[in-house]
Amino acid sequence: MSATGSELIPRHGNGARVTHWAVAIVFTFLFLSGLALFSPFFFWLSYVLGGGALMRFLHPMAGAALVAIFYPYAALLVGDNRWLPNDSRWVAHMSAYMRKEHPDIGETHKYNAGQKLMFWSMVPIIGTLAVTGVLLWQPWFAPHFSAGARRAAGLIHSVCAFIMFVGIGIHVYAAIWTAGSINAMIRGTVTRAWARFHHPAWEREVTRKEGR
Ligand code: HEM
Repeated sequence: MSATGSELIPRHGNGARVTHWAVAIVFTFLFLSGLALFSPFFFWLSYVLGGGALMRFLHPMAGAALVAIFYPYAALLVGDNRWLPNDSRWVAHMSAYMRKEHPDIGETHKYNAGQKLMFWSMVPIIGTLAVTGVLLWQPWFAPHFSAGARRAAGLIHSVCAFIMFVGIGIHVYAAIWTAGSINAMIRGTVTRAWARFHHPAWEREVTRKEGR
């Protein structure tokens, strides 16, 4: 195999891709059903999500599923998301990177600083959503908590859901904006040229492991 820019190199394994898309589907259901529960303005969404009663039952179940799927996945990604000195430089050069100029990001490893910030914000936010969600979970857990605790939990739950929506919105926008990135999560591979441009240190590491 030649070391040309169009040559494909593996980026995400089968397990990681299946888990990632399971997280994305569960998140989409949680977000839409959460909106329907949040405001009567969005309650019409419940008609496409199985009806009000079923959706109310499924929303916390899906939250539990998100916790069960996301944290084992996150544990596998921790190593590649450790904050390195170059990441602060990436943040400083972010606007040049967004203009598709090639700033000094020579040491970007598997994930860039923007991806790492998304990762590290999701870790506490999903946990907080889960804990506050338990306080609101009717009919099983909510009756064990005071009205004040449930009100506070409702407020924190809504704020975290909003932050998560914005964070995932940026994540999806960045994935679409970075041509070749969606393919990485669908097929599992990227071109060598893509890796060299976006994640040069990771590309060098992959090449070293290949023994070239
Ligand atoms: C809903 C639509 C979504 C799309 C289109 C999408 C797209 C992508 C793509 C293309 C990548 C690969 C980036 C690369 O290889 O550099 C990725 C990675 C990742 N995504 Fe998503 N994603 C979505 C939802 C989510 C959700 C809901 C979460 C979790 C809350 C999530 C968490 C992650 C994580 C943790 C990574 C690995 C990058 C890192 O560790 O920072 N994604 N996503």
